[in-house]
Amino acid sequence: MARFLQLTDLHVVAEGAHASGVLDTRALLEAAIDRLIAMRAALDPLDALLVSGDISDDGSAGSYGFARAQLDRLGLPMFVVPGNHDARAPMRAAFADLDHVPGSGQIDWIAQVGDTRVIGLDTLVEGQGGGRLHDDSLAMLRDAVADATGPVLVMLHHPPIRTGIRFMDAIGLENTAALNATLADARADITLIAGHVHGVHHGRLGRHRVFTAPSTCSGFALDRRADAVTGFYLGPTGCAVIDTGADGIISAVPLDPADGPFSF
Ligand SMILES: [Fe+2]
Repeated sequence: MARFLQLTDLHVVAEGAHASGVLDTRALLEAAIDRLIAMRAALDPLDALLVSGDISDDGSAGSYGFARAQLDRLGLPMFVVPGNHDARAPMRAAFADLDHVPGSGQIDWIAQVGDTRVIGLDTLVEGQGGGRLHDDSLAMLRDAVADATGPVLVMLHHPPIRTGIRFMDAIGLENTAALNATLADARADITLIAGHVHGVHHGRLGRHRVFTAPSTCSGFALDRRADAVTGFYLGPTGCAVIDTGADGIISAVPLDPADGPFSF
């Protein structure tokens, strides 16, 4: 088994800016990391940090520099994929020293953490909200899954499930069917983890399970009505802990301050 901390949708902005004019995402990320360091003994042993995109909100070099410095404070091996708000060139520059980040092209990769094969897939189509997987990413995935001998974790920003949040489903993963076809015959124990939807959702892609983690900066309401308001909430914020052992436990961890624990 291996145990992973997943952070997603940090939406860090340039210094002095606020995401969507409201969110001080630099302060929110710093507070999230403070909180994770404070609770670290309760979560350990953690083997690696997985960051599933929208690291930056504005694609600025300053946003990536700040995000990297904060993520480094956790002192964990770190793996990253981009989201729709990211920009590949400055993101690549900020994480270029990490072995898994390729020097050009999509930020797709294969890593081994303990017995677990971790595969990162780049769904970013620069200039649009929805995501798409390239044919060569799917070919890489097919090969990486075929020769895996232990559990497999696939990380991508856009989840291959529809959550019912209409404005997010409208900018979902365009070629979920192709991903499904790629993994349909895979015999490995595969879990797909994503972000993008700023909340916890569980679903399936074929017989493989899919999980989305909460954001470190904002939340989206589940509202299935046709006239649902498009917008975000200041919380709940959180992250996830993913265990690839026999029980395969995935836990959402709230990051909003809460008093306690109180005795029963
Ligand atoms: Fe996103």
